[in-house]
Amino acid sequence: MKQYLKVDEWSIIEESFDPINHEISESIFSIGNGFMGQRANFEEQYSGPSLQGSYMAGVYYPDKTRVGWWKNGYPEYFAKVLNSTNWIGIDVFVGGTALDLAKCKVTEFRRELNMKEGVLIRSAVAEMEDGKQIKIESTRFVSIARHEIGAIRYAVTPLNFSAPIRLTVYLDGDVKNKDSNYEEKFWNEVSKEVSAGSANLTLKTKKLDFHVTSVMTYDVFKNGEKLDLTPSTVEKEKYVGNDVTIQAEQNEEIVVYKYVANVTSRNHGLGQLVEVGSKLLEEARTAGFDVLLSEQVAGWADKWKESDIIIEGDVSAQQAIRFNIFQLNQTYSGEDDRLNIGPKGFTGEKYGGSTYWDTEAYCVPFYLSTADSSIARNLLIYRYKHLEKAKENARKLGFTKGALYPMVTMNGEECHNEWEITFEEIHRNGAIAYAIYNYVNYTGDKSYLGQYGLEVLAEISRFWEERVNYAPRKDQYVMLGVTGPNEYENNVNNNWYTNRIAAWTMEYTLEVLDYLKENETSRYNELVETLKLKPEETDKWKDIIAKMYYPADEELGIFLQQDGFLDKEIIQVKDLKPENLPINQNWSWDRILRSCFIKQGDVIQGLYFLSHKYDLETKKRNFDFYEPLTVHESSLSPCLHSILACELGYQEKAYEMYLRTARLDLDNYNNDTEDGCHTTSMAGTWMSVVHGFGGLRVENNELVLKPFIPGHWKSFSFKVMFRGSRLKVSVSDKDITVSNETETPAAIRIFDRDYTVSPLGMIQVENAVVNA
Ligand code: BGC
Repeated sequence: MKQYLKVDEWSIIEESFDPINHEISESIFSIGNGFMGQRANFEEQYSGPSLQGSYMAGVYYPDKTRVGWWKNGYPEYFAKVLNSTNWIGIDVFVGGTALDLAKCKVTEFRRELNMKEGVLIRSAVAEMEDGKQIKIESTRFVSIARHEIGAIRYAVTPLNFSAPIRLTVYLDGDVKNKDSNYEEKFWNEVSKEVSAGSANLTLKTKKLDFHVTSVMTYDVFKNGEKLDLTPSTVEKEKYVGNDVTIQAEQNEEIVVYKYVANVTSRNHGLGQLVEVGSKLLEEARTAGFDVLLSEQVAGWADKWKESDIIIEGDVSAQQAIRFNIFQLNQTYSGEDDRLNIGPKGFTGEKYGGSTYWDTEAYCVPFYLSTADSSIARNLLIYRYKHLEKAKENARKLGFTKGALYPMVTMNGEECHNEWEITFEEIHRNGAIAYAIYNYVNYTGDKSYLGQYGLEVLAEISRFWEERVNYAPRKDQYVMLGVTGPNEYENNVNNNWYTNRIAAWTMEYTLEVLDYLKENETSRYNELVETLKLKPEETDKWKDIIAKMYYPADEELGIFLQQDGFLDKEIIQVKDLKPENLPINQNWSWDRILRSCFIKQGDVIQGLYFLSHKYDLETKKRNFDFYEPLTVHESSLSPCLHSILACELGYQEKAYEMYLRTARLDLDNYNNDTEDGCHTTSMAGTWMSVVHGFGGLRVENNELVLKPFIPGHWKSFSFKVMFRGSRLKVSVSDKDITVSNETETPAAIRIFDRDYTVSPLGMIQVENAVVNA
């Protein structure tokens, strides 16, 4: 674990340059606006280890599958969000030598991600090989107000010399994905134009024909005066730029304002990209850097108004939670229902930027509470639009009916190719059904069910119906050969969670059918007709629900993660020698599979989703048994355990788990932050504060709070949007205050007593929980 970042409430700050940390910082200091994202690469040349990364949401490539041993049913490709044109580049040359921090003595360095304003700032003083000292300062952002615009202020000051400085301001499309399966580059050049002062470059993906056009312009100032330059143009394959040479005097600052528009064929007509990009760019340049910056500050202030969490008394925890919220808001803004949230957001390439069940299980709750309900609805509609593909996927695997959503996808097609996950980790289907329940339960928007929800639910139920089989000797339904959320077990029989979520999906589907029959009869009739839903099917679901087999151990009073779990040698993680951990880096796969160690919550996942169906005693027995066996080697694991620990009153455990999730990337806990940040698990961190410490649930159309405050926190507060109201919940060891920031009254239950928070009103209740 490396802790090299300064603790600060609103910023992530690095105060010296160590190349060892550079790729980690490139991930952590990433900026994005939901439409594009950019790792914190340097503008000038850098020859040390670095992952140059600029990503345009939804622009991906189907990279041909690479496996050692092909299995029927594997997808043909793995979809990857593409590293696209490097638009930030500004090279600096002094006397023909490029400024390159990898080759200089860096005497001062500071990098700051200002999360309040959505701006990345960097300054450095570098001594070049010949002793020349240069100071650089850059301020960069991708605009939250103008989704296709990026802007950079880049200043160069010679500190101990006067000499001509050449700057190359450029766009470079000759980029590749680090994770390319066959070392292939994915872009072809379509067109480029370069003139004195501006340039554009259009690239097209080798497959699927996504076009991305980047258009750039820039202004150069010296001593506050705009220079009238005569740039020369630079042109190479997939590269356009301008060279400008400026006579720099010692201690005089030269400032370049670079503006770029990145537009794609996802949003604009093919023939119009250069025109649209140029227009947007001209508007941005006319507005100027300072106006763009003030729009940025205002845009982020709005985001924070809806989603901030304030922790008093623990700056490290404060910084961490804001970092998580910031990254989530940078990754997905919810305006485009074709987009989703990759596990690494725009901060790296691992997991290909594709959609996983992480979205439904972890991200939906965050967006439900911190943004307009249309945003979470868009995430649901994304899956609705993929329903036909999910049906095709089920047919491809040999099912005669129903839908199996993919484990990993970009356009609805499966693109994951490890048999135990592709074919067996089918519990993901349950999360997609659960998200519909979660959305309707939270928002009260039952219209979603008739419009979109039922079709998805019915097709998922049909899949489960065919996936289980009746075991005559048990007179029960079983589900064989699956992988649960705990991927450290494969091909197990009767994973409790999968059986449970399957039966629950059918229960909920039947409930929704009853609701629609009663309340939206004509839509109900229409849906029964289009789905060709027969009474035999719903009868079968009822039979499966009644006779589903759930492995359990009566003596311990726990659900069994799967058949035979207790035949394993049960050892607790605390009894393992530290050198064994993480087991995924130290043990053979065979040893992991045979062991009792759990990668991430499995039974616990079920107890979290279906929390309302289980009493505290049941939760406690299962938590007490399974948590000590859990190695939390998925970033998605600690947050769920933190939430459950809060509910059980295990305050120390809850806080321990919270710390593990909250500072995962800032402290590089899993030693893998250079690959990108764990963006989807950041939603889990938010959940552990709001659902965990805040104890927030929605029951019977009412918000329920049962907060407790970790011992050394003075207070914490969070915002939640709920059915038209936005509430600020503040918790201290003395009281709980709920302020309504809107004109819509809100019903709320705190420690089992009902209250109404009137428009713009406030209530205060004594904190009934003894502190940790
Ligand atoms: C987890 C999965 C998750 C994936 C992407 C894996 O390590 O086990 O549950 O979907 O990462 O975040």
